[in-house]
Amino acid sequence: MALRRNPIEIWCEADFERPVSLGRSILGLRGAAHDPVAVRRIFLDNAANYRKDDLQLRVLRPGLGNGLLTSEGGDWRMQRRALSPLFSPRQVADFAPAMQKVAEAAIERLSSRRDGAVTEIGALMSRMTLEVLEQTLFSQGLGREPSAFQRSVTSYFDTIGRLDPLDLVGAPSFLPRFGRRRGRPTLMFFAQAVDDIIADRRALIDSGAEAPRDLLTLLLSATDPESGRGMSDEDMRANILTFILAGHETTANALTWTVYLLSQSLEWREQAESEADRSFDPQRPAATEGCETLRAVFEEAMRLYPPAAMLSRQAIADDELAGVHIPAGAVISVSPYVLHRRRGLWDNPDAFDPSRFLGERRERIDRFAYIPFGAGPRVCIGMAFAMQEGIVLLANLLRAFRFELVEGQSVMPQQRVTLRPNGGLKMHVKRREKAQKSTAENFFVKVR
Ligand code: HEM
Repeated sequence: MALRRNPIEIWCEADFERPVSLGRSILGLRGAAHDPVAVRRIFLDNAANYRKDDLQLRVLRPGLGNGLLTSEGGDWRMQRRALSPLFSPRQVADFAPAMQKVAEAAIERLSSRRDGAVTEIGALMSRMTLEVLEQTLFSQGLGREPSAFQRSVTSYFDTIGRLDPLDLVGAPSFLPRFGRRRGRPTLMFFAQAVDDIIADRRALIDSGAEAPRDLLTLLLSATDPESGRGMSDEDMRANILTFILAGHETTANALTWTVYLLSQSLEWREQAESEADRSFDPQRPAATEGCETLRAVFEEAMRLYPPAAMLSRQAIADDELAGVHIPAGAVISVSPYVLHRRRGLWDNPDAFDPSRFLGERRERIDRFAYIPFGAGPRVCIGMAFAMQEGIVLLANLLRAFRFELVEGQSVMPQQRVTLRPNGGLKMHVKRREKAQKSTAENFFVKVR
């Protein structure tokens, strides 16, 4: 029931102490690995032995088909190679002005409202991150109102993105799942929207006009190096939807949690606000080092509330993880939520302390103890994009407004593919007296 209601509730105190465990459940032979050496083995050293498991694919594939997130082997390699140029450091840096523009438009919208008005922060963030996608990866827009997309994405996560009781007992996939039936209108909305996007771009290319160098153009020109064949329409659709779903809800949730955590720590809120003021001084080019606190705050929020709170893999052949024998077929869950709060790995693991991501303390963090973006060959392709986007949007918002939690809310995480505050997050958005405006031209955030 917990897996269906809110999968994050399956973890008990012992899981936060244990490096690796394995046992039989109604889901079959399942284990959990929250030890950096084991994590490294699964995602990097022996990654070829761990494929994405069926349960995960059953949740993701109805919408995301055989796109980059859900494909394996040769299909995955071809897609990853084709799309990587869009996420090079240079290309990501070029997206900064578009991100800045989105932030300025949001600030203008918020400024037209009554000072201190109550705002649903998740909706605010997801509108901004969707607009960023529209201005960058889909440079000619998504052809639909952002609110229509937002509603559909929420509905997707609430219907198709939930485990069905039939999945939990391993029933064959031809048996209809109720949740998925409810999600059908959403899938139809996406299919229509995506087909329109593709048709518009094909028409542009056919007209002889120069096509913008964005996700669509790369997808249309991707070819398989062996067969020379282009990507099928079905895979194109799957990838467009993959980037819409994977590319905005995650960053929006990370920002939502960041703003929430800052509202709980006056000290860090002040430090973040004052850095945001300094870094965006239009008189000097905003330097990377000027954003260290904001970066640390954002990273610490993703440690405590990793937007992708559960990763999992299925062992193809027998293996050993931290001394535990893993038989072929076992499914191993790696929850960044648990790993990031593992007792013994982190000082004061449940505390919001961005200083652990600053200076020397940051150097001491094991690469495989902190995996909000995953690790190894399947690491998030949008990692640098998301880090830059998070810092640009956050800095702008903090310069203009102070976010204060509406009293009486109990803020609990709920896992629906991504990790978000259960029931939303309502905050008063108050104007800051010293709010300054930055300019897109001199904004630059170095990404790593
Ligand atoms: C804070 C924001 C984000 C977080 C926390 C996040 C997290 C992740 C994680 C953990 C994975 C690995 C999944 C696994 O190994 O099973 C992943 C993969 C992926 N992410 Fe992100 N992501 C974020 C933002 C983005 C953005 C902005 C984009 C695109 C613009 C994106 C697109 C993808 C794609 C396509 C994959 C699949 C990559 C592959 O398998 O080769 N993500 N993400």
